[in-house]
Amino acid sequence: MGEPQSSHESVLLSEVLDALAPLDGARIVDGTFGAGGYSRALLEEGAQVTGIDRDPTVAPFVETLAADFPETFVFVAGPFSELDALVAEQRVDGVVLDIGVSSMQLDQAERGFSFMRSGPLDMRMGREGETAADLVNTLSETDLGNLIFAFGEERASRRIAKAIVEMRKDTPITDTLALAQLIEKTVGRKPGAPHPATRTFQGLRIAVNGEFDQLVAALFAAERILPEGGRLAVVTFHSLEDRIVKRFFDQTKTAAPQSRHLPYSGPVEARWAPVRKPVKAGADELGRNPRARSATLRSGVRTAVAARPQQSAGLGVPGFRRGAA
Ligand SMILES: C[S@@+](CC[C@H](N)C(=O)[O-])C[C@H]1O[C@@H](n2cnc3c(N)ncnc32)[C@H](O)[C@@H]1O
Repeated sequence: MGEPQSSHESVLLSEVLDALAPLDGARIVDGTFGAGGYSRALLEEGAQVTGIDRDPTVAPFVETLAADFPETFVFVAGPFSELDALVAEQRVDGVVLDIGVSSMQLDQAERGFSFMRSGPLDMRMGREGETAADLVNTLSETDLGNLIFAFGEERASRRIAKAIVEMRKDTPITDTLALAQLIEKTVGRKPGAPHPATRTFQGLRIAVNGEFDQLVAALFAAERILPEGGRLAVVTFHSLEDRIVKRFFDQTKTAAPQSRHLPYSGPVEARWAPVRKPVKAGADELGRNPRARSATLRSGVRTAVAARPQQSAGLGVPGFRRGAA
């Protein structure tokens, strides 16, 4: 059997390996297995790797790695928010998360992630739950506008929501291109600017996959399972995600007051020591892989201070709740 074809080029790979070092003999959880690019490189450096992904279509890449590294690679299907349960009982020295969509997901029109190709408006990484079409055709105009604004940072969110609601009165919107064209017609297209549907598609994808909740849960799960000296490396692709990761690492410098009724209890010891400053892709990588343009790597080393209870307050998680005014 030939190697499965991957259109996905791993982003910030050598920087991620550095952030997780030393690797020889270390046990690393790759929470976003994808095409297995990070996992393969980690295995080649002598690490033992547990890969996690919630997308069943990664199976051919899992099979190849399992055949090449039968002693040191295992894979568990599931959401990375449950990574501590998925790797229960094992010692873990490092966790890596490469958040976002893979090129395979984007390239397959039938997955519905791309506004460049006609396909069903799906966007589910795990193939479960509501699709993007369900949201687009059932949310109220206000909820749609709020969602597109909060998760897509789209300033024309209200106009887009209005146009969607107008259009779906006649026919449900079920096709990616139909939605992309509607948005283009509504807000226009500036030469040289990103496609006007970019932000709306981002917002829908985040909502469909619960991406912020997944990220927050995974960060705290990593904090719980990593022992002192354990490393966490997170690659994000837009400012909303990066803000969450930044604040997660920073937050441990000072404690929030536990209660309004108690005096502020002063700084606490940090749960994380930074490995290094946030890292962006260099010119070489950008020349090879334009997808790396928006990537940021943040990493930390776990201290001996006990893990916090999980809470998203203070992390800057964008707020969208259905039915909120
Ligand atoms: C950017 S790709 C990872 C690419 C990988 N680092 C490589 O080098 O091949 C992101 C992967 O994470 C998966 N993913 C995203 N969110 C997830 C979640 N909450 N739980 C599990 N997997 C997730 C996606 O299905 C996708 O396969």
